[in-house]
Formats: sequence, C-alpha cells, structure tokens
Amino acid sequence: MKVLVTGGAGYIGSHLVDRLLADGHEVFVIDNLFTGKIANVEHNLGHERFHFVNDSILHTATMEELVRQVQLIYHLAAVVGVKHVVDNPLQGILTNVRGTEIVLELAYKYWRKVVIASSSEVYGKSEKAPLAEDDDSILGPTAVGRWSYALAKAIDEHLAFIYHDRGLPISIIRYFNSYGPRLDPRGYGSVVAKFISQALEGKPLTVFSDGQQTRCFTYVDDTVEGSILAATLKEGEGQSFNIGNNRETTILELARKIKELTDSPSEIVHLSYTEAYGSGFEETRRRVPDVSKAERLLGFRARITLEEGLQRTIAWFKGDYTANPPEV
Ligand SMILES: NC(=O)c1ccc[n+]([C@@H]2O[C@H](COP(=O)([O-])OP(=O)(O)OC[C@H]3O[C@@H](n4cnc5c(N)ncnc54)[C@H](O)[C@@H]3O)[C@@H](O)[C@H]2O)c1
Repeated sequence: MKVLVTGGAGYIGSHLVDRLLADGHEVFVIDNLFTGKIANVEHNLGHERFHFVNDSILHTATMEELVRQVQLIYHLAAVVGVKHVVDNPLQGILTNVRGTEIVLELAYKYWRKVVIASSSEVYGKSEKAPLAEDDDSILGPTAVGRWSYALAKAIDEHLAFIYHDRGLPISIIRYFNSYGPRLDPRGYGSVVAKFISQALEGKPLTVFSDGQQTRCFTYVDDTVEGSILAATLKEGEGQSFNIGNNRETTILELARKIKELTDSPSEIVHLSYTEAYGSGFEETRRRVPDVSKAERLLGFRARITLEEGLQRTIAWFKGDYTANPPEV
C-alpha cells in the first residue's frame, strides 16, 4: 500500500515509518523539521520505497500532490506538547487546526482513509480514572495558553467525525505519554527524556511539585502497534481510541527508577510549577487510559513493561547522546 505519514521525521512518526517499510509498504513523508529531525529518517533516505518531502502541511499544493498518490494517511504532524505550544501559540493553533483541515479536505476530495493523531490532553484536567473515550473533556480558561493544544486536538477530532458522517473512513488515536528512542534529549515535552538526560549528565533530576502526580507511560512500539491496528481494522473506523499503557506511575517513582537504571549519582530535587513554568500554570494530577475499547475492537494491549522500555530508551540515549551531548 502507498501510505503518507505527516510528521514522519518526528519521534513517533519515524518509528511508524520504520514499521510501515518493514511491513512492505511504500511510504511518503512530509515534515518541515520543526521538531522532527533528518537523523530520525536518515537510515531510510536511500530506500526505494521511501520518499521524503521537507515542507509544511500548510502548503496545500504539496499536500495535494502527496494525498493524490496514496491510499492511507497517518496525520501526525503537529506542534506538539504543552511547552512548544505555550512558546509558539499562533503556530501551534494554525498547524494543529488548519493543518488537519487541509489533510481532511484533501482526503475527502480523493477519498483516502485518515488516521488522526490526537492526545490524552483532550481530557484536560479531568481527574476521572480511568478515562474512557466518551468521557468529558475539562479544559481550563482560554487565557491560559496551555489549553490551546487540547482544544486544537479536540477540534481535529470534531472535524474528523464530521467527515466520517459524510462517509469518509477515519480513525482517531489518543496517545498517552509515549516514550522511547529518538525522544528529543532536551526533554522538551517528555519527562522521560528529561530525567534520562539529567541522570546521564549527573545533573539533578527535577521533579515538579511533590512528584505524586501520575502518568501512564507507553513504549513507542506499543504506540505504533495501536496506530496500525486503528488504521487497518474495519472496527477502527469512525472511532476514537485511547492508545496507551494503563500502568500508572508517579513522577517521583519514574525519577527514582531512571536514577537506578542509569546508575546515576544525581540527586532528585523538587521544583514548584511556578518556578518551572511561571505563574498560572495548570497541571493534571492523574491521567489513566481506559483501554478496554481499544482491546475489544482492535485487540490492542500495551505489551512492553516500563522497566524494559526504559532500559531500551536509556541504551539509545547512551549511544547517541554521549557522542553529541545536547544542551539540557
Ligand atoms: N509523544 C506523545 O506522547 C504524544 C502524546 C499525545 C499525542 N501525540 C501526538 O502524536 C503526534 C506525533 O508527536 P511526536 O511525539 O512524535 O512529536 P514530534 O514533535 O516528534 O512530531 C511532530 C512532527 O510534526 C512535524 N511538524 C510540525 N509542524 C509541521 C508542519 N507545519 N508541517 C509538517 N510537519 C510539521 C515536526 O517537525 C515533527 O517531526 C502529534 O500529532 C502529537 O500531537 C504525541
């Protein structure tokens, strides 16, 4: 099959590309390298079934040329993560809303199936646990920039459902805290990457608040597997799915585990949200996916344990990282 991956030079996108090529597909990638890196796809550049376009999804003509050629679109390109969105608010909203509009408009024109990458952020600050796909989104005030990411992803989902009502095959995947090799070592948006970098550099591991807030960390192979199941199974059509591991981990426990697995002398220190993000920052204490729908309809279940996933991720960070230490 010919497949388009928008954001395919990014962290999740590049792993998805590797898997699609391994499964025998012809893969087209569009990525403007905002946070994506050529290093993530370099090993595929000479591959006869891999085609890379360095451009923005906001350029309709380029997108049309690509969408026309493929049968399936994985739409992952986005300004990702709360911190990037807070730092680039306009670019964030334009990319994450207008970009998805363009993808869906073209998919509708050429009748292509689309998988939309959404986020656990759409649940906002809901503290219900576990969170099921049809639970309420509880977002904070519009004057607080961090909620624009969740809102944009929610609009993307609404748009996808509207096109589905017109008959277009779509599927929506809500990723929960994916981690693995190729995470940005500066930890921009990923607490796993931040802690591993700090531990390997012997710097203090900075835990926000009391560290009792929890997240469910999902190894990237499971993230990719869930995406592929949602894209390929008929049962995935017209649905949204939580794609994540449902093991809940406190941030303090994560810091301790990474310190232990890296054998790091670093101490663990606590920072208030105000020290980290300035005043007015709002955080969610818990975010646990109910994965029963993904399990029932797609047969999805995260399989990689946190320990195993962290070991693989740390091994990658050690290889790449010592050769070229980033600024943390
Ligand atoms: N990593 C996670 O845990 C997580 C959680 C929830 C949702 N997501 C979603 O998964 C998708 C992939 O995220 P990721 O973690 O791999 O982040 P990432 O930043 O590595 O990937 C996003 C990619 O989109 C590209 N991009 C940004 N603007 C673009 C534009 N205008 N045109 C073309 N490309 C553009 C970036 O360069 C990057 O390669 C995103 O849609 C994100 O919102 C990720």
